[in-house]
Amino acid sequence: MSHRVAITRRIPEPGPSLVAAVAGEVVANHDDRPLTRDELLSLVSGCDAVLCLLTDTIDSDVLDAAKGCKIVANMAVGYNNIDLAAATARGILVTNTPGVLTECTADLTWALILGVARRVAEGDVEMRAGRFPGWGPLYMLGGDVTGKTLGLIGPGRIATAVAMRARGFDMKILYHGRRSSPSLDAIGAEAVDLFRLLAESDFVSLHVPLTSETHHLIDAKALARMKPSSYLINTARGPVVDEKALVKILREGGIAGAGLDVYEDEPAMAPGLADCPNALLLPHLGSATQGTRAAMSRIAAENLVAVLSGCKPPNLLNPEVWRETT
Ligand code: DGY
Repeated sequence: MSHRVAITRRIPEPGPSLVAAVAGEVVANHDDRPLTRDELLSLVSGCDAVLCLLTDTIDSDVLDAAKGCKIVANMAVGYNNIDLAAATARGILVTNTPGVLTECTADLTWALILGVARRVAEGDVEMRAGRFPGWGPLYMLGGDVTGKTLGLIGPGRIATAVAMRARGFDMKILYHGRRSSPSLDAIGAEAVDLFRLLAESDFVSLHVPLTSETHHLIDAKALARMKPSSYLINTARGPVVDEKALVKILREGGIAGAGLDVYEDEPAMAPGLADCPNALLLPHLGSATQGTRAAMSRIAAENLVAVLSGCKPPNLLNPEVWRETT
């Protein structure tokens, strides 16, 4: 049977080749830009499978346009861009790419922790501007990292990888989540309530998926519970933080700083954030290494190919659909 497969954006190999090997026809956006809504609706129409990215909003209209589609394979671990309930209601399988981006996202979390505390980007700007006045005992002092307390919200794979690295910095580790984490417990991390984590941590690092429960989990009240000397780190999803409230507290010095890789309304930022010198701002680079993006491409394609070959995909997010169709 000949399958028509949509790929919504230019992605690295080997995903495109793996898909091409089983698909009768591949309709792809060959540009490195997200499709407009109309382009997306038109691309997916009549497709048996869709390989998409976190920059594509896959809602009920898109799922209806993809009538007859068997699988939506997201090339991301987060899948808040897909209306999972709407896909499930239509009997469409949805998959993601967990695991392969854990280590590099943990690395980037650490780049933000060290970068914001030790003012790395600010220092680089000073040097390039020729403003380095020479070593001074009070010049560009930052926050300490070694021996401090790291608070992890959302104790999944990435949080655990961040905690493993924190051991090298001799940090006390607190975590908060809906469930306890045997892997975090095993390295001596302490499960605490959110209130205590916010109040005691020197670095609060976010690792929760974006859901209706985690939307604005870190709001003005939560930020006010953090210590004035503490830092907020977000490599999860922007809307977990109320960005306007964050700008306010950064301006007022209510916390020492923030290291952000994700934003509420990407690619835009809340007004004033770019003017906060105590914010280290990266453009959603958590998984942006060559090896990781290739692995994500491979896994997204493998999920899609499995379904087109009649097999259960390895990273299925709505297993109830598989049970219903088999
Ligand atoms: C993901 O896969 O969810 C990441 O945010 C991509 O960088």
